[in-house]
Amino acid sequence: MNSLEFIKKVSYIEEKYRDKVEKDYYRQNYHLMPKVGFMNDPNGLIEINGEYHVFYQYNPFYPDEKHVCWGHFRSKDLITWECLPVALSPLEWYDSHGCYSGSAVNKGGKLVLMYTGNVKDSKGERETYQCLAESSDGVEFKKPYINPVIKNQHEGYTRHFRDPKVWKHNDKWYMVLGAQREEEKGSTVLYCSDDLQNWSIVHEILGSNLSKFDFLGYMWECPNLFTLDNKDVLLFCPQGVDKQGDLYNNIYQCGYVLGSLNYETGEFSCGDFLELDRGFEFYAPQVMKTSDGRTLLLGWMGLPDREVSPTIDNRWLHCLTIIRELKMKDNKVVQKPLRELKRLRKGKVEYKNKIIKDTETKLDGINGDSFELKCKFEFDKVNQFGIKMRYNSHKDEEILMFYDAINEKIVFDRSKDGFHKEADAERKCFIKNNGKVKMHIFMDKSSVEIFINDGEETFTSRIYPSKDSKDIVFYSKGGEVRLSVDHWQI
Ligand code: FRU
Repeated sequence: MNSLEFIKKVSYIEEKYRDKVEKDYYRQNYHLMPKVGFMNDPNGLIEINGEYHVFYQYNPFYPDEKHVCWGHFRSKDLITWECLPVALSPLEWYDSHGCYSGSAVNKGGKLVLMYTGNVKDSKGERETYQCLAESSDGVEFKKPYINPVIKNQHEGYTRHFRDPKVWKHNDKWYMVLGAQREEEKGSTVLYCSDDLQNWSIVHEILGSNLSKFDFLGYMWECPNLFTLDNKDVLLFCPQGVDKQGDLYNNIYQCGYVLGSLNYETGEFSCGDFLELDRGFEFYAPQVMKTSDGRTLLLGWMGLPDREVSPTIDNRWLHCLTIIRELKMKDNKVVQKPLRELKRLRKGKVEYKNKIIKDTETKLDGINGDSFELKCKFEFDKVNQFGIKMRYNSHKDEEILMFYDAINEKIVFDRSKDGFHKEADAERKCFIKNNGKVKMHIFMDKSSVEIFINDGEETFTSRIYPSKDSKDIVFYSKGGEVRLSVDHWQI
């Protein structure tokens, strides 16, 4: 099969199930999702020639067959996205079992992709290759004959060696790869190149073989290395981390360390590992720099090996997060909703300084299943306060976000979302009690993203309430809060 035939096969399946997929109430309003089938990691984020590209891991044939290719979205404004034909098809000997994750760079006006070719040999064993593809029109990609540019893993590592993230530094190309050491420790390695074709390893950057990070599991996926406020940030997804109280409660984790990279030696001195998101579904984010100097992040609202969703019956699974801008504050990466998202706002409703005292209150005009909501709670003496979204008393449904002022914990609870009835339905983290809590919420049909205190913490999760669960209730217990809210439908 050639790539045109593959693209045809994808279009056929997209067309075949279009109606079934589109009729699903849980299709999102303003998040990127696959036309049909399975989506995972965002790949190849780039701004080039006045346009933004987002590629993604795409298996349109899910759940029947598995052929992982790169889906492709393009936009001029980061808001309206056009879905383009599949960019990379798994048709070569070096990527026959999947064009796995990778990144994009601008090489003299050409869009160049670097990705991992995943292969299963005759014994079912994995082989791993780092490969290039390039395009002059940003739509059609060619894989050069010199592929693969890195054959197999480097000595000392297993075949779990993937997800190249490439960037330019002082006129040289650099790349980080996610890896596993032979002693089954997670790791990231640094490579460099003058031409994107000939690569040499610089050194391992960091790994869970170091005693400080020995809790960080057996494999690190999807690393990103970028600077923010003169700090080097290494963002990655460790697998095999044990839960520690409120921390690391998901099957796999995503977090970062801040430090300083020596590009000559690969030495990386850094601080502690910090979790990036506190919710249930957040993984494999990718970062891009824009021409106006912003650092933007886009994540996958899903997790590997977690295929639980009512949408599977309608032949699609997973979506991406909203785009977020990263900033550094008090030695922490904070996340702000992309400012362009304001353009989606419709019909503002606002309330200022409403007192809520030991009661539950609905506010006229504040409800819905697709909205942006900004809340500021000010308080002196109160035990607990919060919001019930997608509230429906007849069906006993709600998505609960509250602050426990006594224990200084912010808590997200989806046990009554109508689907996730499992015991593990709560996530929380510490937020200092200083008399004020802000919650900035992006609700879509089947997801919620909550930014606490200007992005100091985020909770990102899929939720599956009924379509008539649309009320919003504000409440306080054991005292009063002063509440100001802005609400827009999206
Ligand atoms: C992360 C990941 C990557 C891999 C890709 C395959 O979710 O496992 O490490 O490249 O997904 O789809």
